[in-house]
Amino acid sequence: MKFFIDTANLKEIDEARSLGMLDGVTTNPSLISKESVFNQKDIQKHYISICQRLKNEENLSAEIISTDYNKMIQEGEELSFLHPKIVVKIPITKNGIKAIKYFSNKKIKTNCTLIFSTGQAILAAKAGASYVSPFLGRLDDISHNGLNLIREIKNIYENYHFKTKILAASIRHPLHIIECSKIGIYATTSPINVIYSLLNHPLTDIGLDKFIKDFHSKIK
Ligand code: E4P
Repeated sequence: MKFFIDTANLKEIDEARSLGMLDGVTTNPSLISKESVFNQKDIQKHYISICQRLKNEENLSAEIISTDYNKMIQEGEELSFLHPKIVVKIPITKNGIKAIKYFSNKKIKTNCTLIFSTGQAILAAKAGASYVSPFLGRLDDISHNGLNLIREIKNIYENYHFKTKILAASIRHPLHIIECSKIGIYATTSPINVIYSLLNHPLTDIGLDKFIKDFHSKIK
């Protein structure tokens, strides 16, 4: 199972790398706006800095802002020329689907984002998206079952041998990661804190504390 980090923060990316838990990075316009970037040039430099931290098959999903088809193509091409590790992240709209098809024909990787329904995921796969990002947490927030969506998408993609990889997004807590791994999808993308939460167990803390105390009570 792959762990992508949902952030545009270089420190967090380095931290995930040092943990050995970095298989890729996803960003979105809200995340990039939290960094020290004030214009397009800054953003491009920032994306390049992220890409320079990536190895082997790891990649960075960088999202386009435009919604007009021609502008989407222009923006996506600019992003993909920036660095070979960039995957163009495109929202699921009518123009988005057309843009994904365009990039897929050009062998440029895409991540179809803001997926909240099975129908959207089918269209993204039909258009040739490399990745699809269903937003688990935001569905849970409105009392829908995000995990059911992931199960359905996986089932349909398997039925039709779609090559689109499922990258579960909007991950809020460790159970999301565990349940996604049971379903068997390609990857989750989460904030680093959620990965740290997987570490926590009170019996581990109590056990470690006792081991250290027992050792020091006898051995000087
Ligand atoms: C997906 O790629 C998005 O960047 C992200 O996972 C959204 O998560 P949020 O709902 O926590 O903002």
